[in-house]
Amino acid sequence: MGIKKHILVIPGDGIGPEVTTWGKAVLEQIGRDFGHEFTFDEAIMGHVAIEATGNPLPDETLAKAKASDAILFGAVGHAKYDNDPSAKVRPEQGLLKIRKELGLYANLRPIMLFDELLNASSLKPEILKGTDILFFRELTGDVYFGEKKRTTDFASDLMNYNRYEVERIARKAYEAARLRGKRLCSVDKANVLETSRLWREVVQEIAKEYPDVETEHMFIDNAAMQLVKNPKKFDVVVTANLFGDILTDEASQIAGSMGMLASASIGDGTGFFEPIHGSAHDIAGQDKANPLASILSVALLLEISFGLKEEAKRITSAIDKALKAGYRTGDIADSNTDKSKILGTKAMGSKIVEML
Ligand code: IPM
Ligand code: MG
Repeated sequence: MGIKKHILVIPGDGIGPEVTTWGKAVLEQIGRDFGHEFTFDEAIMGHVAIEATGNPLPDETLAKAKASDAILFGAVGHAKYDNDPSAKVRPEQGLLKIRKELGLYANLRPIMLFDELLNASSLKPEILKGTDILFFRELTGDVYFGEKKRTTDFASDLMNYNRYEVERIARKAYEAARLRGKRLCSVDKANVLETSRLWREVVQEIAKEYPDVETEHMFIDNAAMQLVKNPKKFDVVVTANLFGDILTDEASQIAGSMGMLASASIGDGTGFFEPIHGSAHDIAGQDKANPLASILSVALLLEISFGLKEEAKRITSAIDKALKAGYRTGDIADSNTDKSKILGTKAMGSKIVEML
């Protein structure tokens, strides 16, 4: 039986529009193949929204987001702001605000490893093979949302957490661990930070509700090292907003490229799905970006927001097939790649649609 769903596409800045075009194309094809009725709307956010309205998250975008069944997002950001620390209005504020407004407190970042890409990573294949990690990054608290202060010679970002914020992300992570390898690693800096001591205390309490899951606590500095030393030791990792931001960029190298990692931001309402890569202005508009992270985000969207497991599987299998056939975008090509099989964004996107 087909389902009926309304999806908001927010392409955003830089390579966002190029890659989400293919995420959307895959959704449309899945809809046709499985008899689902997917309807779409589009909205602006980030630098493009600042240019058009002065606001990185216009009210209209937020209203459309709240009214949709799921959101497919591209990226926000612009070099102009990166080099201007004094800019008061910034593209990233749009992303942070929508996360807060939609209550997207849990950011799931699966480190999915395609065997064909073992050589695309800068890490040794024998270290990587068999790695399968699911990160739960807390997304609406921490130093990201604490009070900010600034005078000419002083600056402060307040890092804070409430008990309930730690409890709900910990529960989500434990529930997932229960269905996977039954191991959970909570990452913090409890030897220094008070917020981390609260974090650890709460995770220790929640752990009692999940005696079937093995819990480990690790300091962030050690976790950053263990991740490249022996990534196989991790199953589910749960951590705070800032630590999760940094650790997941590092972990993306296990999958070969940032261009391969998708993420799902969920909470109590509409889910939000996006590649973990940014706007990559240096390659925007050149047909070079890897659309696979956006396409993998669509697989997460179908599975998590709509419960469509078979459809999600169809997408990952199509990507697997394309990689097995030797097709690569520039970021995941290596010295053994047949040059004629290095594809641009459009050719890789249509290759996946064709292989569905
Ligand atoms: C991410 C990004 C964002 C973040 C930026 C663009 C604000 O790096 O989603 O990981 O820091 O959360
Ligand atoms: Mg990041």
